[in-house]
Amino acid sequence: MHKDIAEILIPEEEIHAKVVELGKQITRDYQDKNLLLLGVLKGAVPFIIDLLVDIDYMAISSYGNETHSTGVVRILKDLEAPIDQKHVLIVEDIVDSGLTLNYLMGMLKKRDPLSVHVCTLLNKVRKRDVEVELAYEGFTIPILFVVGYGMDYAQLYRNLPYIGILKPEAYSDTTERPETHHKHPLEAKDFV
Ligand code: IMP
Ligand code: MG
Repeated sequence: MHKDIAEILIPEEEIHAKVVELGKQITRDYQDKNLLLLGVLKGAVPFIIDLLVDIDYMAISSYGNETHSTGVVRILKDLEAPIDQKHVLIVEDIVDSGLTLNYLMGMLKKRDPLSVHVCTLLNKVRKRDVEVELAYEGFTIPILFVVGYGMDYAQLYRNLPYIGILKPEAYSDTTERPETHHKHPLEAKDFV
């Protein structure tokens, strides 16, 4: 285990078993349909690669203050092709406030796809700022900040094969937390 990890929340084998199951379900549900899996960079990359269908990516980032998810996102990389003849399935690593997905879905719907749905690996169980319908979800997790399997803290730990919780000392005092609502893991436990 990595020295900065306090606890493994979801081990590698469990992640893979779940992704295989989701992949089968998606393949069945979209059989005979023109499906585009849209991965949100960078966190969803391992997940979408493991799901493996027709893939395109978008890179988005929150505007302004990094510590608060404002819900207004900036497109850093747009899609390569039009989506008006496609069923789009957005693939996300984790849904927290719901603001990012809500904004992205609104934007994609204006491009007139045949459908837009969401597949997320993790669903943080909390009262969301905006409700987002999740067609597929891997695991529900408590309000904890997690890293690994694509997910980062300050761009670190994406390459861990499992999903874990950081030790308190792994959080630098100088770097701001990347998103809002993410309580320190130990504080967050009080809410669970
Ligand atoms: P939302 O707009 O608050 O739903 O934020 C969703 C985005 O925040 C995800 O796509 C992740 O990139 C990031 N995020 C939320 N929670 C975590 C976490 O626990 N670890 C790492 N990234 C997270
Ligand atoms: Mg993300």
